[in-house]
Order: sequence, then structure tokens, then C-alpha cells
Amino acid sequence: MGALEVARTGGARTQLGEGASHEGFLRHKSFFWLKVSVALCAVATLAYLLVDQQPRPSGGSFYGYAMGTLGLLLILWLTLLGLRKRAMTSGRWSLKAWTSAHVYLGLSLVVIVTLHTGFQLGWNVHSLAYGLMMLVILSGIYGISVYHGLPRALSNSRAEMTRPQMIDTVMKLDRQLQNAAQPLDQAETLIVRRSLDDKPFRAGTLRRISGANARCPTMRALAEMRRRKALASGQEVEAIETVIGLLERKSAALARIRKHLQIKALLEVWLYVHVPLTFALIAALVAHIVSVFFYW
Ligand code: HEM
Repeated sequence: MGALEVARTGGARTQLGEGASHEGFLRHKSFFWLKVSVALCAVATLAYLLVDQQPRPSGGSFYGYAMGTLGLLLILWLTLLGLRKRAMTSGRWSLKAWTSAHVYLGLSLVVIVTLHTGFQLGWNVHSLAYGLMMLVILSGIYGISVYHGLPRALSNSRAEMTRPQMIDTVMKLDRQLQNAAQPLDQAETLIVRRSLDDKPFRAGTLRRISGANARCPTMRALAEMRRRKALASGQEVEAIETVIGLLERKSAALARIRKHLQIKALLEVWLYVHVPLTFALIAALVAHIVSVFFYW
């Protein structure tokens, strides 16, 4: 996969990169697919300008059918990226090459399909398909911008630690907390227990995106132990201080994990828009094609 780091998203591989990895697929083979896409758009535009027809060609003309067929085939192929991401192959048709083609050929649809419509848009199923396609493309552009900005923040948020190292840090602190809580009374041990049961990697999508946990058991345990320290005396103060120190370190480690999870969720969440819109687009395309061939 070269410079690309492959991360797991619901069983599928996704191209989350470190640093400049998004450039990996955007620059793939010296922008080969950008060149193909520009050439395709240039030929389509030239053909539109050269067609000597009045009124100007629309979706129902020979030119319109040609552009419509090309657009449809491209959309079906772009949709196949979902299947391709789940298959492991390398070389000429690596995931990197495929994603590069996906992005640039996807963008070429703006020109190809707009020319196919002959600029005749209205409140009908044909324009619905067009609108949905534009939304899929816009969400794709958003995805690329997210890949551009977030990977650096992702590696900063980990403070040079890998995910297993981050988990390991929390597990070590939990073990130390368990020992440090031995001299405490039952009520205080229960407070520490709540922090030990905190599992930040199990947070749902919305909580990950928010990057916070207002009910964080560790933060609550910390506040409670600080309150108890003010009321404690003698050796108990020392034991509570040790626990507070560990809870503070755990709280900082959890904050780092939450930031990391937040950035990862933002890298993935746009696909929850891109993919459902793709299926809506295909449904609208079926309606568009059926209405063109059967009701015209
Ligand atoms: C009508 C046009 C398009 C369709 C039908 C389409 C469809 C899809 C589908 C089905 C996936 C697979 C998602 C998954 O299973 O995880 C995908 C991924 C993706 N699409 Fe599109 N797409 C289109 C246009 C675009 C455009 C124009 C861009 C960028 C400008 C783009 C960028 C991406 C990216 C970056 C991914 C994720 C690749 C990865 O995670 O490795 N798409 N698209």
C-alpha cells in the first residue's frame, strides 16, 4: 500500500493517511487519472460545441444518449469502490490507483452529466437524479478535504503513541489504581471502581465525534476524591493523594484517546453521507431511465 496507511472501518479498508498520504492517491502516477479525466471532459465539451443541431442537444439527442450512457457506466463503476475496498489486491489496480481514478472520474461527471442534461433542469425525477449526483460529488470533495486536514492532527493527538500503546498506558494506570485503592474505605474503593470500568474505545459514533464525555467516570471519581481529601486526616490523606495523582494521569490519557477517536470518527463519518446518497442516486437513476424509455 506504499505510503498509505490502511485503517479498518466496519470491515472495510479506508485510505487514512499519515501526513501526505492523501497526496498518495491524488498524485498517483503523476496525476494520471486527473489527465484522463480532463481529456474526457475536453472531448465531451468539444463534441457538444461541434454538434451542429438546433435546438442544442439535450438528453434525448444522440449526443445526450452517448453522454448519459457514459455517465451511467461511470456512476456504476464508482459505486463498485465499496466492493473493491473490501478486496485485497495490489499493483496496477491497487486500491490507491482505484481511489485516484474514483476521485478524478467522479469529478468529470460534473461536466459529462451537465452536458448530457443539455442544461435543461426542472422539478422532475431527471433533475432529482442530477441533484443527488451533485450531492454525492460534493460529499466526496468534503471527504478529500477531511483527508487533507485531519491526518496530521491524528498523529499529533496520539503524542507519538500507537493505539495499542495508548490502551496499554490506561491499563497500566488501572492496575496502579487498583493497588493504590487498597487502603481506602469501601465507599472510596467504589468511586475508583467506576473509573476502572470506563471504556473510552467503546463509545458510540456521536460521543466519539463530540470528543467529550460529560459523564466521564474518571473525571467524576477525581472530583469526588478531591472532595474526600479535604475531609480526610492522617494516613488516609496520603492514600487519597496517590489515587488522585493516578486519576489525573488517567484523565489526561483518556483525553488523548478521546481526541484521537474524535479525529478518526471525523475522517470516517462523511462516508455515512456519501454512501447512502449513492444508493439514493442509483434509485433515482433507475426511475430516470424507466421514465425516459417507457413514458416518453
Ligand atoms: C456520482 C459519483 C460518485 C459515486 C457514485 C461514489 C460512490 C462511492 C462509494 C460507493 C464509495 C465506497 C464507500 C465505502 O464503501 O466505504 C466511495 C468512496 C469514496 N469516494 Fe466516492 N463516489 C462518487 C464521487 C466521488 C468524488 C467526486 C469524490 C472526490 C472528489 C469521491 C471521493 C471518495 C473517497 C475519498 C472515498 C473513500 C475512499 C476510501 O475510503 O478509501 N467520490 N464513493
